[in-house]
Amino acid sequence: MKKTLSYLYKQEKLTMITAYDALFAKLFDDIIDIILVGDSLNMSFLGESDTLSATLDQMIYHTRAVCNGAKSAYIVTDMPFGTYNTKEDALKNAIRIYKETKADAVKLEGGAEKAETIKLLTDNAIAVVGHIGLMPQFSRSEGGYKVKGKDEVSKQKLLEDAKAVEEAGAVMLVIEGVKEDVAREITNSVKIPTIGIGAGRYTTGQVLVWSDMLGFFEEFKPKFVRRYLEGGSIVKSAVRKYVDDVKSGKFPGEEEIY
Ligand code: KIV
Repeated sequence: MKKTLSYLYKQEKLTMITAYDALFAKLFDDIIDIILVGDSLNMSFLGESDTLSATLDQMIYHTRAVCNGAKSAYIVTDMPFGTYNTKEDALKNAIRIYKETKADAVKLEGGAEKAETIKLLTDNAIAVVGHIGLMPQFSRSEGGYKVKGKDEVSKQKLLEDAKAVEEAGAVMLVIEGVKEDVAREITNSVKIPTIGIGAGRYTTGQVLVWSDMLGFFEEFKPKFVRRYLEGGSIVKSAVRKYVDDVKSGKFPGEEEIY
């Protein structure tokens, strides 16, 4: 059964995971509430140091793959850097995502300054997920990935941003890299579900990048990530075994030949 917003709104806790292809989307589909086709794609799979290089064409291609694999999860696609600088661009590009994929919603980064954009998309029948706090598309201009909500000014700005995004019509709000008490206050101050990443325990839901939580990205582990699998080690030992089998003549065997 397809998970609609009305289904999601009834859940006490929501689960979101990223996926970028049909294979993994299919594996996650029945288990998870929401799949995010994040622009983290270009970090996880292109090996870039930030998300800024992701293009609309790439996001559409990967969203189509995810939609082919996932039939029940609610699917959210990131609008990549530079595709929603003006609200007119945002509408044009979000319409492309809706027309060329089966994504249920688009996600864009920004608070009060993006309220008019969120409203325009919402008024034109496009569901929008907001994203406030640490916004990866700002990592270059801000000189890194900085946790937000550490002082009163930052906290008040986040609370105002959350309200503005909600009032503009966003259906959900991702809160990234925010002090736990602030993320909790935001969650209590809005009616839409909040999905946290590095935002503590009190958001409505949690999101993690799949290659981080399954241990395929091995270079470093951010504090907020819990690894549920040592995927990198498992894959490497399986590939080593394959190489050994080929070199020693054990593969292919009797049962693997025509
Ligand atoms: O691109 C992404 O994966 C994201 C998550 C970190 C929320 O935006």
